[in-house]
Amino acid sequence: MTMDVIVLAAGKGTRMNSALPKVLQPLAGRPLLAHVLETARALQPAALHVVVGHGMEAVRTAFDDPDLHWVEQAEQRGTGHAVAQALPHLAGDLALILYGDVPLVRPQTLAGLQAAAGDGLSLLVAERADPGGYGRILRNAAGQVCGIVEERDATQAQRAIREVNTGLMAVSATLLRRYLPRLQPHNAQGEYYLTDLVALAVADGVAVHAVRTEEHEEVLGVNDRLQLAQVERVLQRRQAEALLRAGVTLADPARLDVRGTLVCGRDVFIDVGCVFEGRVHLGDGVRIGAHGVLRDCELAAGVDVLPFCHLDGARVGPGARIGPYARLRPGADLGPRTHIGNFVEIKQATVGEDSKINHLSYVGDAQVGRGVNVGAGTITCNYDGVNKHRTVIGDGAFIGSGTELVAPVTVGEGATLGAGTTLRKDAPAGQLTLGAQRQVTLPHWQRPQPKPE
Ligand code: UD1
Ligand code: CA
Repeated sequence: MTMDVIVLAAGKGTRMNSALPKVLQPLAGRPLLAHVLETARALQPAALHVVVGHGMEAVRTAFDDPDLHWVEQAEQRGTGHAVAQALPHLAGDLALILYGDVPLVRPQTLAGLQAAAGDGLSLLVAERADPGGYGRILRNAAGQVCGIVEERDATQAQRAIREVNTGLMAVSATLLRRYLPRLQPHNAQGEYYLTDLVALAVADGVAVHAVRTEEHEEVLGVNDRLQLAQVERVLQRRQAEALLRAGVTLADPARLDVRGTLVCGRDVFIDVGCVFEGRVHLGDGVRIGAHGVLRDCELAAGVDVLPFCHLDGARVGPGARIGPYARLRPGADLGPRTHIGNFVEIKQATVGEDSKINHLSYVGDAQVGRGVNVGAGTITCNYDGVNKHRTVIGDGAFIGSGTELVAPVTVGEGATLGAGTTLRKDAPAGQLTLGAQRQVTLPHWQRPQPKPE
């Protein structure tokens, strides 16, 4: 039995009060729709249709995946109307209908829904203490589902029903073809309700199966930013729990945000307030101090990142120590056991093993050898206003504090630069180079004095 997935994503999302279409609002660093598509793909559908309307161009541009079949719904005339737009394109026997703004539903729940549908219809329902806003599930005296009534069309008695429609359903393509053309917009909103399919099917003796989810959070919808924030917390908690189960120690699972993919080795420790973006890989025994932000980084085993560091596009070798307050920018490539200390910025630079840049320095567009000591306040002057130039520092060099390296420039192996040198020409290997001006003292100079009152 082959299945189509239809994702409804044409709605405007008025309550978000945003210029961005709702399904592009970020959840854990990715658009809402990306989460739904990932779940849909896990079910390996024959085709994946996305019904778009509001902000259609922006949505399509955000997703250039070749497996998506875009369906245009120019005017939003209801969920039934939305599905009807996809109807001519269905490839399989069954259609699974998802919402672009219900991002947390799990693949196993949908597989259950799919299985329950058979060649008929199944609904994902939930029991809610506060059913406000949802369509209510109507059952007959025998307890069988016989219809769905939207809140606005419901009687007082029907509004008391706590069993609600999550909106997600699996329907045979045959039933869709038979009943969608029969929907009528005779309701409070003047829309074509997909939910009216249920009563039509039941009237013809078609069995309707209600699949109940006990995990309420997975069917949370995002209509406003309050709900978006709630859904974000649920997803972050799920991710934190997965990390804990995989053997990662989190100082506080509630104070971690992963906006992308975080892969960890054994015995990794992550302190509070850290944010991980893009793809981050942490090797065995890595420790991330409090309030670190790491994006697209690879840290080898035993790396110790002290608190308040920002790492973006960096590779860090085993046993290195970073921070506190260090900034690694794209192209920072640090060798084993390197030390990068406080208020140090590294960009497009390789640093060889056992080298130390411990205080207040900027090293950009550089190649630093092994066992180099870079003193406090060292700056590579890599930019002439137009071009970037390289600085090369040989193995075992010692760069005195407060040095400026005016690139392009090379410091030879084992060279020593005196403190305060402004290096404009290459420094030869093994020798001391000083840019020193002679020190003078003016014996008769007097410090200006404040005028007496
Ligand atoms: C719908 C259900 C309701 C259910 C609720 C769960 C109907 C008639 N009602 O109500 O029973 O309890 O979801 O959240 O189905 N959409 C389109 N095109 C349209 C209309 C909607 O693509 O013309 C999309 C929206 O972008 C959204 C989804 O369909 O992703 C649901 O639409 P929405 O207007 O939020 O439905 P509800 O009124 O909440
Ligand atoms: Ca809704």
